[in-house]
Amino acid sequence: MSVAAVLTAAGSGSRLGHLLPKALVPLGGEPLVVHAARRLLAARTAAGEHVVTLVVTAPADHVDTVRSLLEGLGGDVVVVRGGPTRQSSVAAALDVLASRDGVDVVLVHDAARPLVPPALVARVVEAVRAGHDAVVPGLPVTDTVKQVGTAAGVVQPVVRTVPRGDLRAVQTPQGFRFDVLAAAHAHGSHVAHDEALAASDDAGLVELAGGAVWVVAGHEDAAKVTTARDLAVAELVLRSSARVVEEAP
Ligand code: CTP
Ligand code: MG
Repeated sequence: MSVAAVLTAAGSGSRLGHLLPKALVPLGGEPLVVHAARRLLAARTAAGEHVVTLVVTAPADHVDTVRSLLEGLGGDVVVVRGGPTRQSSVAAALDVLASRDGVDVVLVHDAARPLVPPALVARVVEAVRAGHDAVVPGLPVTDTVKQVGTAAGVVQPVVRTVPRGDLRAVQTPQGFRFDVLAAAHAHGSHVAHDEALAASDDAGLVELAGGAVWVVAGHEDAAKVTTARDLAVAELVLRSSARVVEEAP
């Protein structure tokens, strides 16, 4: 039995506002998708498990580009054309994995989180192996969070302050027993192509299907690159964390 990973890289990156799709935008001279793939493949659990098969979702016009960028990283890397939403892209990748024998654990990771520490990847796999069917990394929320009501003008009314002690901001990679994630995607397939209704994370689909989801400690370096500011922060983080991957087995 083996661990596979889906690496989502088929988005356009409209909020980043770069000419290239976000996953192809350089960070320290290398595209985000290359950083993310290398870190997924570098992870080792305490039991020595690692990602054996990596399925990457690419923008329709960039499948060959992504394939050649990932050549030479090692591992069994498959690049597929993504769908119109993140959910549909993941579903396309799961279809590829369904035809592979022996995959019993699957990670889903966003190329938009290029600097994920390999140790975080391993932590998620270990939690799934320990018997948790769906596992997400999460960080405590540090801002005070207020729920607002709707109003016509620029000023909105506060409905309440949400107690933040039990809130977690969730990251990727999210890890699953393969059959659990496949069933959750099948259950939510009717909204897969609708950007307004599709799930923004895979654990959410498991929740909708009635499954339990567990949280392990996330990591600041796994932050998502959404805006140009996030990319500038990632450049700084890369400089201080470059050795994380170089020192990995
Ligand atoms: N993604 C994907 N297929 C899509 C949409 C998104 O594989 N149809 C991937 C993105 O490449 C990214 C991850 O899902 O790695 C998270 O999505 P997000 O951060 O929203 O990226 P984009 O959709 O590219 O950005 P934006 O929403 O700003 O356009
Ligand atoms: Mg998006």
